Amino acid sequence: MAKQYDVVVIGAGAAGMMCAAVAAQRGKSVVLIDHAERLAEKIRISGGGRCNFTNVNAAPANFLSQNPNFCRSALSRYTPQDFLALVKKYRIAHHEKHKGQLFCDDSSEQIIQMLRAECAAGEVSWRTPCKVAGIEKLETGFLVTAEGGDIACESVVIATGGLSIPKIGATDFGYRIATQFGLGIVEPRPGLVPLTFDGPSWEAFVPLAGIALEVEVSTGSAKAKGKGAAQRGHFREDLLFTHRGLSGPAILQISSYWQPGTPIVIDLLPEMDVAEELIGMKSTVKKQMGNVLAQWLPTRLAEGLLLANGFALDARLADMPDAKLRKLGDAINRWAIVPTGSEGYRKAEVTLGGVDTRELSQQTMMANKVQGLYFIGETVDVTGWLGGYNFQWAWASGYVAGSSV
Ligand code: FDA
Repeated sequence: MAKQYDVVVIGAGAAGMMCAAVAAQRGKSVVLIDHAERLAEKIRISGGGRCNFTNVNAAPANFLSQNPNFCRSALSRYTPQDFLALVKKYRIAHHEKHKGQLFCDDSSEQIIQMLRAECAAGEVSWRTPCKVAGIEKLETGFLVTAEGGDIACESVVIATGGLSIPKIGATDFGYRIATQFGLGIVEPRPGLVPLTFDGPSWEAFVPLAGIALEVEVSTGSAKAKGKGAAQRGHFREDLLFTHRGLSGPAILQISSYWQPGTPIVIDLLPEMDVAEELIGMKSTVKKQMGNVLAQWLPTRLAEGLLLANGFALDARLADMPDAKLRKLGDAINRWAIVPTGSEGYRKAEVTLGGVDTRELSQQTMMANKVQGLYFIGETVDVTGWLGGYNFQWAWASGYVAGSSV
């Protein structure tokens, strides 16, 4: 005989715990299932162990989706201020870091404990670790076949996240369930991920590993329109050279907008028109090119750029033709490079794509054609920028589903 609950939430991560707590505190009987031994591992490792739990500026423009307006409703019904009020209620010390990003002062474990306490306040039942074998639609409700016995319920919420970091339990469960029920999937791909480069044109940059500087980076076309068209991304953040390519917040951000085979364009000195500056200095400055550029850029980078652009390090600025300086200025202010690939799901902070939001109600997150089946969090084709936006989406989508089930 199957055990009976109003709601089964599958996936006890950020979105699942929020949804379970909200539904249970409304009086629903809720069971929260997860296959992992350790709960909410992504919250634990997030923000370098201090969980960047929201961003006070979170707005629809900070999210990528094939259906950009979908996230609007949930984000407006559960705002960063709402989550912050919860954090304050639990007296979790926190601070704002950079561009609206809120972090715990001490440990991300505090956010996990807070969500567990919210679940306990609604008497959520837990089944962990527990594997789910399948979900079957009944005439009314569903039958969930899981370790520990079958469960009959009115609503099922899929909160199993995306494919990022398989070694801590990411699976394609959400996509498989969506497909089983005839819902479309926007092809998943790694987002917020370091980009990799190889081949002869990258060799000059390999020795630069470890160098970091603030840059402007962009990709895509502002004119791109229509289904599948790349959205344009533009960020001013830190970039980091690595042994295999480029990383740092600037690159993680742009990676979510980058389409394979297309270039990213980096301005290594966004405060300055380098060609104008060099040509203007020519008649008065007697320095060698290496020393001139090293005034503005890390020395190793300045040297790497000169070598990559056919300059001898000891060439004198005064002897350089304007056309050559313009070419160098372009290489610094508009460095266009085509990444070979990315570090993939092994390193990606998020998964782009997922359950097609055109299949879901933006008010409730329920599938339009399957009464009682909900998808929330990263499983869905809504992906935030770096900086607390992805957790805000998990809280907001979890809240609206928890309020509806
Ligand atoms: P989440 O991945 O949190 O939870 C899914 C749950 O489902 C997991 O507990 C998993 O075990 C379970 N599950 C999966 N398959 C299952 C199956 N078949 N059966 C049962 N259970 C299953 N975001 C942010 O806003 N600020 C930050 O600081 C960071 N930092 C960060 C660092 C790193 C290293 C990563 C990888 C990611 C971040 N993120 C982040 C992104 C953020 O962690 C992510 O967007 C949310 O955790 C997504 O929440 P979900 O609840 O949707 O999935």
